[in-house]
Parts: sequence; C-alpha cells; structure tokens
Amino acid sequence: MTTPIAHFNGQLLPLDKIFISPLDRGFIFGDGVYEVIPVYEGAMLRGREHFERLQRSMDEIRLDNPHTVDQWMGVVDKLLEHHPGNQSVYIQVTRGVPPKRDHVLPKGLRPTVFMMCYPLASPSKEQVENGVTCITARDFRWEKCHIKSTSLLGNVLARQLSADVGATETIMLRDGMLTEASASNVFVVKDGVVAAPPSDNLILLGITYDLLVQLANEGAVRLDIRPVTEAQLRGADEVWLTSSTKEVLAVTTLDGKPVGSGKPGPLFRRMHALFQEHKARIRGTVAA
Ligand code: PDD
Repeated sequence: MTTPIAHFNGQLLPLDKIFISPLDRGFIFGDGVYEVIPVYEGAMLRGREHFERLQRSMDEIRLDNPHTVDQWMGVVDKLLEHHPGNQSVYIQVTRGVPPKRDHVLPKGLRPTVFMMCYPLASPSKEQVENGVTCITARDFRWEKCHIKSTSLLGNVLARQLSADVGATETIMLRDGMLTEASASNVFVVKDGVVAAPPSDNLILLGITYDLLVQLANEGAVRLDIRPVTEAQLRGADEVWLTSSTKEVLAVTTLDGKPVGSGKPGPLFRRMHALFQEHKARIRGTVAA
C-alpha cells in the first residue's frame, strides 16, 4: 500500500515522512485546535463554515491563524488532488514548538499545521434503516466545550464508555440537562417538534447541527432551539445524532430501552432525505 499524501507546514509529503517535535505544544499540552470536513466527490460540505469555526476556536485559545479562509480552502483543494472520491479531511493547528516546556503561552512561535485525508466512512444502509444504540453518561468535561480543541481526553473517555458496551455514542448530561454526545450533537423530537440544546460553552456548535437547522427551516419542519432536560431526552419520540461523519442518524435504543417506537421515526426519515438531497446538490456544483 502506498503511503497517503498529507500536508505539513506548507508542504505536501507522504504521511510517514512527517515528523513532529516532542516539544510541540500539541503533543505536550494538547494545545491546539482542529476541524474535520466531509468531502463528497471533491466537494467540501460547508468548508468555509468549518474554517470560520476554526478561526473562532483559534481566537478562543489566543492563537494567530496562519491562513485566511480562502487560503485554507486552497490548501485543502491541493491535498484533495491526491485523494479523489469521498473523504474526511482532518486539519490540526497547534501552538508550535517552543524551546522548553512551560505552561505560559510563548510569544512568536510558528503554529504547526497538519492536514490529512482518509476515506469518509458514511453511515451504513443498516445504520440508517435501523438506527443506532447509545448510552448516557454524566458530562465530566471542562466548561469550554465550544472550542474544537485537540485536548479530547474527556470526549475520548466518554466515547469509550459506549464502545465498551458496543454502542455507537455516549450522550452526555450535565446538571440534568442534555449537552451533546462524545463526538456528535443531539436532537430530540416530541409530538412533531424537533428540539436541540442552544449553542453555548457546554457544546460544540456543529456545522452539521447548523445545516440541519437550515434544512428543517427550508423543509417546514418545526424546530426549537432550547434547553432539553434529561426527562425530555428519555421521553422523546425520536433522538438523532449529527456530525460531519455521521450526517444524521437515528438513535433507536438509549441505555437499553427503545426510543419511541424503537425504529427511526418519520421526522428522521424526512431530515435524512433533505440531507441527502443537499449532498447531491453540492456534488452537482463541483461536477458542473
Ligand atoms: N466531531 N460535538 C462534538 C464534541 C464533536 O466532536 C463533533 C464532531 C460534533 C459535531 O460537529 P460537526 O457537525 O461540525 O462535525 C459535536 C468530529 C467529527 C470529530 O471529532 O471527529
């Protein structure tokens, strides 16, 4: 197998020829931010919005962005020349390599930029048709979950709880309120109305979440952005996960109990169809 081409600090190189210093603050402190962008047949889904969120994450951690959004889009396009088809683009920017380990933010460092691609693993037909299993857990992460930080230990440990029991995601609750899942946002449906927790410091505002809100509005699906209690999560007719790799997926079992009818519900099927139509439109933009 040939080694895939990746981007490192302005150069395209085989992935196995990229070496990062152990003093890199990303390695030492998890001091960095990242993005994951889905690409369908060469077309980024909401690429611009991903780089705008990267900018917001960098502002939050006081890291200067080495590129404009347009430059970032150009860097991805160059990398995609080596990776046709459906891809997941992973972008990571860390604070760079200081001369020594010190918590205080060093001045004048060049950020480390790393970007790689791998084939996009979209949900299987089976997952779309039958839904997936989730568990719940206390949200034990920090209070800056709106930053897409590479410091993901809280998310990793939360995700492992569901992996341990063969479930797809861990849906998290903080002080009796739904926040999000370990690597996805969560929507609930009751009596024909969709709800999702508001964007604040306790969740990552997903690019897919935003797209779903837009598609619901365009498709005349009733949707409320409002706090969701644990009781409302457990009593929902439908529960969905959204992310750049999961698109929108129905949760049909939560903590071993069926969600609603135990099958993906009618509003899920509607939103899933709207999502697929949207994907087909963006693919058409590139092919044209
Ligand atoms: N995760 N919340 C968390 C904690 C996430 O990690 C993600 C995405 C989302 C959904 O965001 P988006 O719709 O922009 O993908 C919400 C990515 C896919 C990951 O870490 O691999």
